[in-house]
Amino acid sequence: MQIERIIVKKTEKLFGKVDLVGAKNAALPIMAASILIVGKIILNNVPCLTDIFNMKELLEKFGSKITFNTEKRIMEIDNSHLNSFKVDSCIMKKMRASILVMGPLLARFKQAEIAFPGGCVLGSRPIDFHLKAFNKMGVKIHRIDENLMAHAQDLKSAKIILEYPSVGATENIIMASILTKGTTVIVNAALEPEVLDLIQFLKYAGAKINIKLPAIIEIEGVESLKPLSYEIMFDRLEAGSFILACAVTGGEIHLPQARVEAMEVFLEKLVEMGHVVEVGLDGRGIIFKACNNPKSINFRTMPYPGFPTDLQAQMMAALCVSAGNSTIQETVYEGRLTHVRELQKMGAQIDINGDFVTVKGVEQLYAQHVIASDIRASCALIIAGLCAQGQTIITGAHHLYRGYENFIEKLKSLGALIEVIKE
Ligand code: EPU
Repeated sequence: MQIERIIVKKTEKLFGKVDLVGAKNAALPIMAASILIVGKIILNNVPCLTDIFNMKELLEKFGSKITFNTEKRIMEIDNSHLNSFKVDSCIMKKMRASILVMGPLLARFKQAEIAFPGGCVLGSRPIDFHLKAFNKMGVKIHRIDENLMAHAQDLKSAKIILEYPSVGATENIIMASILTKGTTVIVNAALEPEVLDLIQFLKYAGAKINIKLPAIIEIEGVESLKPLSYEIMFDRLEAGSFILACAVTGGEIHLPQARVEAMEVFLEKLVEMGHVVEVGLDGRGIIFKACNNPKSINFRTMPYPGFPTDLQAQMMAALCVSAGNSTIQETVYEGRLTHVRELQKMGAQIDINGDFVTVKGVEQLYAQHVIASDIRASCALIIAGLCAQGQTIITGAHHLYRGYENFIEKLKSLGALIEVIKE
């Protein structure tokens, strides 16, 4: 097997414009939601990522006819003739998002045979909220080893109270209830921008969905959804990652597709560090100007609109070289601190106490051979490499490709000294 290593050298400043792609975490549930629609749908701005190809492969197992023009990022999905509701464990294990087909399969076939999903190693990552909600909607679920057999005579609307605003459970319940008679109510729903993008897609297709305060989503079942064309929202995590890369090198970058409203708390923290965040002249896009001596900050990851867990690792890398002591609390995942050891190897002064992390800013990080263990950790190590003395070598590059399209090429176009070596 060919091994890829990412080689990163200390980079002086990043400058220029970077175009963002569509959000992986919006595209994946929207692709799953296509199961609900008989007819052809067209998705624009679909990112070319491993997870997207995995979801494509998964849908094709059900009989989906899919073409994906990767240059134009246009995906056409025709689910007129689906003929299966079964997924083998091999493909389920490739990514956590595979669980998102369960809701739409139940809505369309009243049956689903799936396995427990895989994904990044971020802790135990159970699916109990999904399963409890389906139970409440009248679905009987039997577990045989790693497989789940689910069926219902008829799905029934229900009031579902989530003990935690899980993104995936919220999306799965919405998709399961779209074609279910009556009104399903989700209390303590996740309202991440990607969940709202899925809702927008479904509403354009004819779904009746209302969002009420505080964090309540009401879904009134409809007979059917109609085919449509839809543009996936920008990737706020890609945007945040480029901003943090620029924060450690210095410079100024322009992200024309980014929207401030989708990333307020994150941007506020950058301002607190001393950086400058401006909205583009036409009222759209973000211009980020890095300051010379960023300050320490404290933050904890939270469901939206709080600080996103998916930018925690990258922000930690930036705080390693910010003046003073920063504190971070990871509250979303129990196991999302694997990057700490790798950053420590590079000279970062980091202490962990449970889910609390203290980062004491140092003048300089030093290049090392480090190992990426998940999508965001791989990005964090690239960010650390950009400000480390010497040549950082990162293995585990395949994690990066699951979540970032052309990240290395785009960084290079901004002036980063980075390349991939295949051995
Ligand atoms: N959880 C449970 N039981 C459940 C579901 C979730 O205990 O049934 C726990 C999880 O273990 C986790 C927390 O709740 O500790 C949050 O999980 P959530 O369900 O909200 O996350 P997800 O739907 O599995 C999506 C993104 C993740 C992102 C999280 C949080 C997609 C495809 N994935 O995952 O993205 O971290 O929401 O915002 O949308 C990434 O892109 O790197 C990534 C991991």
